[in-house]
Amino acid sequence: MNVPARMCAVLTTGHGGLEKLEYREDVETPEPAEGEVLIRVGACGMNNTDINTRTAWYSKSVTQATDAGGAAGFEQARGDDSTWGGAGIAFPRIQGADVAGTVVAVGAGVPASRVGERVLVDPWLRDAGDPSDRSRAGYLGSERDGGYAEFVTAPAVNAFAIQSRYSDAELATFPCAYSTAEHMLTRVRVAEGERVLVTGASGGVGSALVQLARRRGARVIAVAGRGKMDAVAELGAEHVIPRDSEDLEAALRSAAPQGEVEVVADVVGGRGFAALLEVLARGGRYVTAGAIAGPVVELDLRTLYLKDLELQGATVMPLGIFEALVGYIEREEIRPVLAGTFPLARVRDAQSAFLEKRHVGNFVVLPRPG
Ligand SMILES: NC(=O)c1ccc[n+]([C@@H]2O[C@H](COP(=O)([O-])OP(=O)(O)OC[C@H]3O[C@@H](n4cnc5c(N)ncnc54)[C@H](OP(=O)(O)O)[C@@H]3O)[C@@H](O)[C@H]2O)c1
Repeated sequence: MNVPARMCAVLTTGHGGLEKLEYREDVETPEPAEGEVLIRVGACGMNNTDINTRTAWYSKSVTQATDAGGAAGFEQARGDDSTWGGAGIAFPRIQGADVAGTVVAVGAGVPASRVGERVLVDPWLRDAGDPSDRSRAGYLGSERDGGYAEFVTAPAVNAFAIQSRYSDAELATFPCAYSTAEHMLTRVRVAEGERVLVTGASGGVGSALVQLARRRGARVIAVAGRGKMDAVAELGAEHVIPRDSEDLEAALRSAAPQGEVEVVADVVGGRGFAALLEVLARGGRYVTAGAIAGPVVELDLRTLYLKDLELQGATVMPLGIFEALVGYIEREEIRPVLAGTFPLARVRDAQSAFLEKRHVGNFVVLPRPG
């Protein structure tokens, strides 16, 4: 393929509101370095990490819910601890972690036979010398330029060949959300027959948790917004509890056999956190990978130690999870939940819609719509 010298891309020019997202048509096309591939982006999924990095929500100076500053930014946010890993970020940056596309060129040391391969990209960037060292991990669209562009480079080991009848837009719903969800379930060893409580179940990670927990033979109780409960049930949740239940703990207990669950998989946090721990059985396992409703929660230590609970966090995942995910997709053990697509040029509209949270699943942007 003839790769143009300039490409369309969205540059994030600094911390702040949606105005920091600049669509440009004159961005230099990257070249693949040694060990890398150049990918023509077919579609790129949208995630909260795009919002959190732009608004500096990851900074400890921010204690509100993500949506409080999602459109306009957080005035008090500091820039020196503003990324997921606790460091600052260099702008401009091309964000976008969820790349589905086609390899169009390779760098030195990568077989030319990979040109033309359809790929799904693992967004976790690992240290080449020691890929299992989680302290040296980076993320596509944060520590290096990502997929809100016509072309992106990535280490060849991150570009997984995929054979699927799903469109690029559908495939781009999977990488971040589903690998995170599978990591969460792996961390707390979810097994067949166990009861798993999933929060934010209409969202990207939540809809993945429902499907992936069911895939393991677990039984799912989900929490979701009222307009989205049917869609979450269709994904496999046995019971769906409205998020705005007056007494969330009582509502959850009434859905769980014997009033308890073995596992809570939470990406919401905020005020509902205390009720989630109450519903855990003795020896129950809680895992979190997000806190969209607020990162600072109330924890009664008596609940934690008197019930022998286990609390786990999940971000940088062990090797093997993404590869397993590609297999689940290829065998159609899970399905994409594509909420809608936007042209890359309308990325601000896409993020506005994403922040409204009226959708189920994931939004995707297309560099070349139509
Ligand atoms: N650690 C990691 O590697 C990792 C990876 C991916 C995501 N995350 C984090 O996990 C969280 C969820 O991500 P996601 O992609 O699944 O998000 P999402 O697609 O935006 O879904 C989140 C869902 O949470 C529910 N919710 C409950 N309270 C909310 C509130 N106060 N504000 C907004 N939504 C609320 C909403 O569903 P209802 O309206 O149906 O209740 C919403 O659909 C985010 O904090 C994200 O940053 C972390």
